[in-house]
Amino acid sequence: MKPTIAEFYHESTKYTPEGLGSQRSKIDWDHPPLPFKSYTTGKRVDLAQYLPFAELDRTEDIQEEWEALTFEERAMADLSHLLYFSNGVTAVMPYPEREFLMRAAPSAGGLYPTEIYVAASNYPGLPDGLYNYQVRQHELIGFWEGDVKRRLGEACFDHPALEASNLVVILTGVFFRSSWRYQDRAYRRILLDTGHVWGNTAMIAPYFGREAFPIGGFRDDAMADLLFLERHVEAGLLLIALPRKEALSPELREAPAVLPSAARRDSRHAPEGERLWELHDASRIDARPAVTAVPPAVNARPAFGHAEGLEAPPMAWNDALGDTIVLRRSTRAYSGREISREQLAQMLDFAYRPQDSDDPRIALGPHLLAPELLETYVAVNAVQGLDPGCYHYDPVRNELRQARFTGLAMEIEYLCLGQELGGKAAAVVFHTTNLPRAVERYGERAYRYVHMDAGHLGERLSIAAMRLGLGASGIGGFFDDRANEMLGIPPEEATVYITTLGQPANS
Ligand SMILES: Cc1cc2nc3c(=O)[nH]c(=O)nc-3n(C[C@H](O)[C@H](O)[C@H](O)COP(=O)(O)O)c2cc1C
Repeated sequence: MKPTIAEFYHESTKYTPEGLGSQRSKIDWDHPPLPFKSYTTGKRVDLAQYLPFAELDRTEDIQEEWEALTFEERAMADLSHLLYFSNGVTAVMPYPEREFLMRAAPSAGGLYPTEIYVAASNYPGLPDGLYNYQVRQHELIGFWEGDVKRRLGEACFDHPALEASNLVVILTGVFFRSSWRYQDRAYRRILLDTGHVWGNTAMIAPYFGREAFPIGGFRDDAMADLLFLERHVEAGLLLIALPRKEALSPELREAPAVLPSAARRDSRHAPEGERLWELHDASRIDARPAVTAVPPAVNARPAFGHAEGLEAPPMAWNDALGDTIVLRRSTRAYSGREISREQLAQMLDFAYRPQDSDDPRIALGPHLLAPELLETYVAVNAVQGLDPGCYHYDPVRNELRQARFTGLAMEIEYLCLGQELGGKAAAVVFHTTNLPRAVERYGERAYRYVHMDAGHLGERLSIAAMRLGLGASGIGGFFDDRANEMLGIPPEEATVYITTLGQPANS
């Protein structure tokens, strides 16, 4: 049978030891794209004035100031914080040519393809309409005023989370920002990056009495019209409805986060350089899809050794989630020293499982798009109390089962394109999906869902690592087939993302 577009895309964007050099030579290093969007007109809404409330917890010293604010001003302060912790500027690197603004969420190559929009309807202090988040100035630009709830409802087939929300965040990808460097493979990284931003929004939302419901199934044309997006320049990828906790209903919790698109098995394919468009276009939804009962994908799992339970005390946040996000940086080098089994257990627990935490505001598990499609493997290089080797992680049972029994550090380093981060990390998390089955379930759009989910999980793992004083870095560049060999999984299982965790070299 011919491959689907997603399978073709994945195969043709694999990194191989032979092919990598030719891709690097195509990069126009002198003309990097700017990671910002500018509007010539539009109404500015300053959010920076609310940033002195740096602590999310409104403790005594700022309590007085906080109490002096009107209801609308408090709502605007919440919005200011929500966006800042989602992907605001958290550090400035003073490079000679131009300063480089680091952001709350990591991004492959620091290219920041994800744009954030806000849809407000009845939000205190903000006229109903659509806004772009201008990250440099920490302000909103209002570019459309009107009944946005109705239009979002039309675009998302009346998803109940939208009806319940006066605030919706929309994440888009600006493709050239990433394809400039990564060509067709950029689509993978754009989706992973967007998943990281979403992870921040979802983690921080409960601090403002909200819960984040992702919506990945929407009419792509309607979203482009709504946001005035130019085809093949920028595209809507994810909506995050943010209902207040009081507005939550059982119906809303049951509502699906995703819808299927068609699966296509074309015999002719786009040439190199246009394959990211081919897959993006093929994964569009144009009309309400007839949801057919495709059974959940049961992914191939290798024969496993005995189970290692991972019980661990929950993370102690002590109100530090906001600070942890602000201080997060991708670790540039690991020392190779061990982490404890408890630390690994805590990171996995925080990333995947509903939280039994010291802070009720983060007592939530992640709402993912299609978690049944992802498998998690943990390659252990140096974790006290766990034999080195490769394990499958089952988040429901909260246990690891060993699938390979040898030390793998050098293999991992090699498959991470020789990056030492892979070999010296204490543990390396691999997310994989059975791609043909994922496409069978959700059409070509499954490709978007698994990558954004993996990015979201990567962000939760990173933030948990930072809180424990450890390091983390995503790895978007890897030799795909070598990853399968190392994990001992069949070729139809696609490696989606790698997250390294360990002791930073300078700790
Ligand atoms: C999807 C993704 C892939 C990444 N891949 C790599 C990688 O292969 N190697 C690496 O050293 N860093 C990688 N990073 C980390 C970025 O280089 C880093 O996020 C960026 O430089 C911004 O720095 P910060 O995370 O400290 O804010 C990746 C990050 C993301 C989100």
